Amino acid sequence: MYSTNELQQIVKELFANENFVDEPRQLYDPIAYTLALGGKRIRPLLLLAATDLFDSDIKEAYNYAIGIEVFHNFTLLHDDLMDKSPIRRGQPTVYRKWDENTAILSGDAMNILAWRYFIKKTHPNLHKILHTFEQTGREICEGQQYDMNFETRNDVTINEYMEMIRLKTAVLLAGALKIGALVAQADSNDVEYLYRFGISIGLAFQLRDDLLDAYGDTASFGKQTGTDIKDNKKTFLFLHALQKGNSAQRQRLTELFATTPDDPTDKINEVLAIYNNLDIKKDVEEKIALLHDEANANLDAVRRPEASKQVLRQIAHSLLDRDK
Ligand code: IPE
Ligand code: IPE
Ligand code: MG
Ligand code: MG
Ligand code: MG
Repeated sequence: MYSTNELQQIVKELFANENFVDEPRQLYDPIAYTLALGGKRIRPLLLLAATDLFDSDIKEAYNYAIGIEVFHNFTLLHDDLMDKSPIRRGQPTVYRKWDENTAILSGDAMNILAWRYFIKKTHPNLHKILHTFEQTGREICEGQQYDMNFETRNDVTINEYMEMIRLKTAVLLAGALKIGALVAQADSNDVEYLYRFGISIGLAFQLRDDLLDAYGDTASFGKQTGTDIKDNKKTFLFLHALQKGNSAQRQRLTELFATTPDDPTDKINEVLAIYNNLDIKKDVEEKIALLHDEANANLDAVRRPEASKQVLRQIAHSLLDRDK
C-alpha cells in the first residue's frame, strides 16, 4: 500500500514525464500550458488509490490515470469558455490567453488524446473500463447542458440541482474510482460501493466549489470569485437562500438573478449580503458534512480491511475541507 503523499508524488511524476508539445504549436501549446499548471490532480489520485485499495499493481493504472486527468482538463477549457471565466489555477484561461477557437479545438484534441491513453495497452477489463469512460464523458456533457439551461430558468429545484452536479462533476470522481477498481479486477459489489462513495464525495466537492466561488479568496482558489452570481448560476447557495429567505429577499434574489450587468460588483455584493443574512454558508457546510458521512458509509461497505481504506478517507477529507 502507498501513502497519500506517495501517490501524489507518483501522479506528479507521471505528468512530469509526459510531453504534450507537438505541431502545430497553436493546437498543442494551450494543452501543454493547461497541463503544466497542474491543479489538484485529484481524479488520477483517486484512480490510483482505488487500484491500490485492492493490492493490485498501480502501474497497470498509470495510463488511465493520465487519460482521466487530460479529459478533466479538456472539460475545463470548454467550461471556462461557457462560463466566461478569466482565470484558472491563478493564470489566464485558454480562451483569454489565446482565443475562443483555440479553447474549442485544443479542448477537442485533449478529449481525443485522453482516449489514446485509454487504448494504449490491453487489459482483461478494458471493455468495462472504456464503457465506464464513455458513459462518464457523455454524462458530463449532459450535466454541463443542464447547468447552462438553469442560467435562464427561475424554477430550478434543489433536486434538479443535485442531479445536475451529479452529472457535471460527481460522475468523473466516481468514474475514476470505478476505473481504478476495474483495473484491480475487484468484485462487482465493491466496484459499485466505491462508485457510490465517489458520487457522494463528488456532490460534496461541487458544493464546496460553489461555496468557494462565493466566499473563497481568488489568490488561493485560483479562480475569480463571484462568477456564479454574475452568470446567474442556480447553485445550492442560491436555491437554498430562495427557500430560506422571506418574501422580500426571495423577490430581490429572483430579480437580481434575471440581470447581467456589465459591472457585476454591486449585484455580487447584494447577493452575498442576503446569503450572509440567512447564514447560508453554515447550511452548505452542514450539507457537505452529511454527504461526507454518506460517502464514508459506502466506503465502509467495501470488503477491504479498514487500514487499507485510510488513504481514500484522507483524500476525501482533504477535498471537502479545502480552500483551493
Ligand atoms: C474544477 O475541478 C471543476 C469542478 C468540478 C469544480 P478541480 O477543482 O478539480 O480543478 P483542478 O483540476 O484542481 O484545477
Ligand atoms: C464544473 O463546474 C464542471 C465541469 C468543469 C465539467 P464549474 O463551472 O463550477 O467549475 P469551475 O468552478 O469553473 O472550475
Ligand atoms: Mg466554470
Ligand atoms: Mg461551469
Ligand atoms: Mg465553480
